[in-house]
Amino acid sequence: MSKSVNVAILGATGAVGAELLQLLEERDFPVKNLKLLASPRSAGKTLRFKGEDITVEVVSAEAFQGVDIVLASAGGSTSKEWAAIAVAAGAVVIDNSSAFRMDPEVPLIVPEINPEAAKDHKGIIANPNCTTILMGVAIYPLHKVQPIKRIVVSTYQSASGAGARAMAEVKQQTEAILAGDAPKTESFPYPLAFNLFPHNSPLDDQGYCQEEMKMVNETRKIFGEPDLKISATCVRVPVLRAHSEAINLEFEANFEPAAAKEVLATAPGVTVVEDWEKNYFPMPIDATGKDPVLVGRIRRDISQDHGLELWLCGDQIRKGAALNAVQIAELLCEQDLLQSNAVATAV
Ligand code: A2P
Repeated sequence: MSKSVNVAILGATGAVGAELLQLLEERDFPVKNLKLLASPRSAGKTLRFKGEDITVEVVSAEAFQGVDIVLASAGGSTSKEWAAIAVAAGAVVIDNSSAFRMDPEVPLIVPEINPEAAKDHKGIIANPNCTTILMGVAIYPLHKVQPIKRIVVSTYQSASGAGARAMAEVKQQTEAILAGDAPKTESFPYPLAFNLFPHNSPLDDQGYCQEEMKMVNETRKIFGEPDLKISATCVRVPVLRAHSEAINLEFEANFEPAAAKEVLATAPGVTVVEDWEKNYFPMPIDATGKDPVLVGRIRRDISQDHGLELWLCGDQIRKGAALNAVQIAELLCEQDLLQSNAVATAV
């Protein structure tokens, strides 16, 4: 990556925004100029990047002038409002919301799985749902060796999936309950501290919630397998920022657990964590702040002929959101897929 580019973070003051800022610095992303954009609530606030204070600006059409890459993480309605404006101004938008993920014109990318999809972008690239990214990174390497027929997944999702305010709310609820007071609920419909509940996204008429159907539809799109059988149960748990998933896989033919472990040991973005003697396997506290998806408890499913069970933990804000977005941005730079490159080639 030689050429440096102008970057804007839309939603810079949020939980994912903070991580985007940190990752751009940590990975030495070739930033020429960085703009931090948010709502009027945060105007004038400053955030630190490479030892300098940058003032947060209110998002506007002018703010996108000269920007090459927009990393958007300010919710679906904000993305719908601003993405086309940013693209018209010459930027490529990497969008963390669900606004464009299932749009056939928009590539949905996990760089370890389908990086080739980036070359078909028309200005917007979607970053998948966090639980989908984490599961995909762990099971796609197995699918390439032995096709998966069916996936049954249960998630244990941390508060960070609902943003910075939700994380603060769980801490406040914990303190309130320990002090003998009634917990306040704003981000979530029910107290999450000392509790858990099925994911609170809207339910469809089959009884699945939106989060569960994101796992179904987005995984099919990323894998390029429109008929892959998937059933998901998504649950919110009182963990701050790493998600966990119990995944049951049915393959077309036998897949020995030892062979699966060998595949995962060298899979990009995966670290196998297994100590059977100590009963030590991936935990959210070990995944927090880390890049790889931690995978363990890889074992035969004794209830079927060609099945495996596995367990994973991954940082929802890192690989589940910000890291995946920055990796897509790196891909765009490495492969000259920015709008400015298209103009340069056309001239
Ligand atoms: P703000 O801090 O000004 O509210 P999280 O998901 O952690 O709650 O973060 C959401 C991010 O999206 C924040 O940076 C927030 O900015 C930003 N945001 C929310 N609504 C808008 C909006 N209408 N326009 C611009 N940014 C927004």
